[in-house]
Amino acid sequence: MTSAPGTVVVRGGTVVDATGTRRADVLVADGVVAAVKEGLEVPAGATVLDAADCLVSPGLVDLHAHLRQPGAEEAECVETGSRAAALGGYTAVVAMPNTDPPIDSASVATEVLALGEAALCRVAVAGAITVGRAGTRLAPMAELAALGVRLFTDDGAGVQDAGVMRRALEYARGLGVTLGQHCEVDALAAGGHMHEGARSSRLGVPGIPAEAEELMVARDIALARMTGGRVHFLHLSTARSLAMVAAAKAEGLAVTAEVTPHHLTFTDERLTGYDALFKVNPPLRTDEDVAALRAGCAAGQVDAVATDHAPHPPEAKDAPLAEAPPGMLGLETALAATLAALGPAPGAGMRIEDVLALLSWRPAAVAGLDAAHGGDQGGPVAPGMAANLCVLDPALAWEVDPARLASRSRNTPWAGSKLTGRARHTILRGEPVVFDGAAQR
Ligand code: DOR
Repeated sequence: MTSAPGTVVVRGGTVVDATGTRRADVLVADGVVAAVKEGLEVPAGATVLDAADCLVSPGLVDLHAHLRQPGAEEAECVETGSRAAALGGYTAVVAMPNTDPPIDSASVATEVLALGEAALCRVAVAGAITVGRAGTRLAPMAELAALGVRLFTDDGAGVQDAGVMRRALEYARGLGVTLGQHCEVDALAAGGHMHEGARSSRLGVPGIPAEAEELMVARDIALARMTGGRVHFLHLSTARSLAMVAAAKAEGLAVTAEVTPHHLTFTDERLTGYDALFKVNPPLRTDEDVAALRAGCAAGQVDAVATDHAPHPPEAKDAPLAEAPPGMLGLETALAATLAALGPAPGAGMRIEDVLALLSWRPAAVAGLDAAHGGDQGGPVAPGMAANLCVLDPALAWEVDPARLASRSRNTPWAGSKLTGRARHTILRGEPVVFDGAAQR
């Protein structure tokens, strides 16, 4: 852990957290929130962070970031990915285990956690469910859980074998951890490069049907019911997936779900020019799906907006659609993109407080990083709580210039887009790691 820095006053903002919204200054000392009230006196020597016109929120928490280390440092590494995260307002990310080697052992998890100690946000690690993410033998989940791993996933691929998934859920239940499923039945999805539908037919591009996702969602809901294990559904992309999860929740099953900013924004129409920048798994779907995902967020059926930040180097993404890898950047644009999709009109009409819930305290709980699980993320902004905060200006207009992103890769689908809303300051354990929109190290 970095050493506790000095005293910081966040002045003139509106504090937003799970307990509500109020105008207040925030005094931070020794890495902890010391006071929250209007008109705080600034102690001598304190650093003042201007929060005029800003919301002061618990730092954002990303359940789904590919940091690519070890093994694909040409695309991203813990340092660059965590800097992108901090600039995006995040104080914690969960690093996905589809690295090379994958995070399927205590030694690799320890390596990534150690790299995270010096990072600009907290780096939690997701462990693989199966050895090598190959879908056959269970990874040493107990050893990984002993290191603090709370989420396990073979993301990038779904666990195809129902028997393996059943056993993994039984173990997970005993360990008190959650399994994150990348829902995709290989037998239906293999060889596809975009959503299967009228557009893919017209373009002559092999498609990935909605059913590839929905069959696995249905199966894993059945397995959650059977085992009592907790399933977190990663990056859901279809209306029917979400409807099934909503029904499972209503039944009282231990299931949670995330959606991504890109699935809340774009449709398969973006593939009309065969642009691999918009190739992603699961694929961008239809207008009806986008509308259903937005409505599901507004209705409280979705637990988190997660980035699926998936950096790929330009030479890989510049390839023809069939050869390019799936994935897009997300950490630096998620806040603005999510506000546009879900926030007050023209979005889904959600209150900004409820959008922040999906970006911060609700994912913190899913990841087991919140105070209720002994963690330091997701607030509330109250005396005695860890000072992991995001000061965001919801009205700041900016243009996405891929060359100016902190990520080592450039594959943002928002390149050249004008977005509104951005982190002004990000405070990690009391240290302003982003000040006035600039990373401090
Ligand atoms: O588009 C994607 N890219 N989806 C995934 O599930 C994996 C990710 C990656 O690792 O590039």
